[in-house]
Amino acid sequence: MKVTARAHTNIALVKYWGKKDQQLIIPQTDSLSLTLDKFYTDTTVEFQPELKHDQLVVDGQVFAPKQMKKVTRVLDRVRELSNQTLYASVNSTNHVPMAAGLASSASAFAALALSASRSAGLTLSGRDLSRLARRGSGSATRSVFGGLVEWHAGHDDQSSYAEPIMENVGFDIEMLAILIDTKQKKISSRGGMQSSVETSPFYPAWREVVAHDMVAMKQAIQNHDIDQIGHLAEENAMRMHALTLSADPDYTYFDGGTIQAMNLIKGLRNQGVNCYYTMDAGPNVKVIYNQRDRERIINALAPSFGVNNLVVAQPGPGAHLL
Ligand code: DP6
Repeated sequence: MKVTARAHTNIALVKYWGKKDQQLIIPQTDSLSLTLDKFYTDTTVEFQPELKHDQLVVDGQVFAPKQMKKVTRVLDRVRELSNQTLYASVNSTNHVPMAAGLASSASAFAALALSASRSAGLTLSGRDLSRLARRGSGSATRSVFGGLVEWHAGHDDQSSYAEPIMENVGFDIEMLAILIDTKQKKISSRGGMQSSVETSPFYPAWREVVAHDMVAMKQAIQNHDIDQIGHLAEENAMRMHALTLSADPDYTYFDGGTIQAMNLIKGLRNQGVNCYYTMDAGPNVKVIYNQRDRERIINALAPSFGVNNLVVAQPGPGAHLL
């Protein structure tokens, strides 16, 4: 059966940065994110008797079998769950600048989990789908659901899954992505986070930061308090990035444009506009704010980055079939 699914990216407000188990992708800590409407991946999967190996095409580009290990891992799990051995063809289109810290792996593996499981005749619950997506990429665990989502770290395959906190976000939170550099990133999140776990002396403190932030963030969400959500998200992101600067060898995902954006946002804040920044494994900056302040924020950023590089996103839906 040929099945197409769509999944949207998510941006973490409390970041996932480090694994306990690299094979199963069990994270060191819980995390929490917002799924966005603007960036998504469409993936079509078909298991076919005539195939001699799995096939992957992403945005029209054919991948060699050894370039598609993460995809194979998810497909292997689907074969295991559905008790069959057929190979699959996978065709994926990203509506996300790839590998630019806009979490294309999150939407990609959530869309793959849904399309591949359905194509193999499985109807998984949201929780089980999130566990399957997790095999491909950690952040994909959360993209199975829409709105505000929590990933419970757990300790094994069964206990590490995502759960929606608020699927229909009933308040005016918005995220604006500043596209600073959409080229492929130099240090993968996978390699970067592992180096932070192994070499940053601050890693134990990070676990405590996240434990605190998960509680505070959920409270801020229940209060619909966008300022507090933004403040906590910015602080959490900066503490995550402190793990890259304190690793050995040290590294950073920021570039000049990242720092410039941070300064502009702080400047706006000093003028009384409540807006906050967050960054992932790339130089792009995402701004968190109340919808009503959109114009002022765009007007302040456009002269430096160009209005075409500012993308406004709102809470988006979970993975679904097309
Ligand atoms: C900074 O999910 O890309 O975006 O599990 O190794 O595939 P793997 O990593 P990935 O890491 C995401 C890191 C982050 C923070 C987050 O999304 O929570």
